[in-house]
Amino acid sequence: MNEMDENLIEQMAAEALDVASVAAEPVEQFRRWYAQAKSAGIPREDAMTLATVGADGSPAARIVLYKDLTDLGYAEADFPFFTNYESDKAEQLARDARAALVFHWKPPARQVRAEGVVEKLPEHISDAYFATRPRASQIGAWASPQSRVVPSRACLEEQERALEEEYAGRDVPRPPHWGGYVLKPHSVEFWQHRDSRLHDRVRYTLEESGEWRVERLGP
Ligand SMILES: Cc1cc2nc3c(=O)[nH]c(=O)nc-3n(C[C@H](O)[C@H](O)[C@H](O)COP(=O)(O)O)c2cc1C
Repeated sequence: MNEMDENLIEQMAAEALDVASVAAEPVEQFRRWYAQAKSAGIPREDAMTLATVGADGSPAARIVLYKDLTDLGYAEADFPFFTNYESDKAEQLARDARAALVFHWKPPARQVRAEGVVEKLPEHISDAYFATRPRASQIGAWASPQSRVVPSRACLEEQERALEEEYAGRDVPRPPHWGGYVLKPHSVEFWQHRDSRLHDRVRYTLEESGEWRVERLGP
């Protein structure tokens, strides 16, 4: 694990968070904070909790990893992640595309919340991203029936061995049941802890005109 840059973390924590100082677009503001979190060496800065709506309307949440896909030519203003298209979350999203995301960066005591609707990423982006993954993860995407009951760990390992043999000496193609999604936000909130307990909260809300309204909220 990289060492954390304490000086940068201190600077981040002290930075102003105000309607007047934030970027015009929330994803631009998110990218600023994300780039700082990465440079500061914050562990698992890419982890975000994804909440979806179950068949009976009950909430379901789990962590997935945010992927910055700009190097793959995907620079849309949204929040990409990858998963199994036959998992519980995928079934929930197919039924109800509404979802929420939460990042928490412990130091510098920041939170980002985004709410919106989830769509599948274009297939060529999922292909391009899959090709960059370590081979073991590529095999894993084929081997694991995510969210389904499996008889044993040995069963999964046996499946993995069989797939390694099947693909020996050639590229592993992206499984049709594995790929990306993006959350397209209609609301994004940035939260910064202050020792006074008067924490700073700035929320962006998408208006019908396509403009973002930016407001301060009570902590
Ligand atoms: C740090 C961390 C990162 C994770 N990243 C992912 C991810 O990027 N994609 C994914 O499908 N699951 C990821 N998982 C596993 C999920 O939390 C979850 O167990 C899995 O996606 C099945 O969720 P579901 O049954 O609700 O569909 C991650 C878990 C942790 C703790």
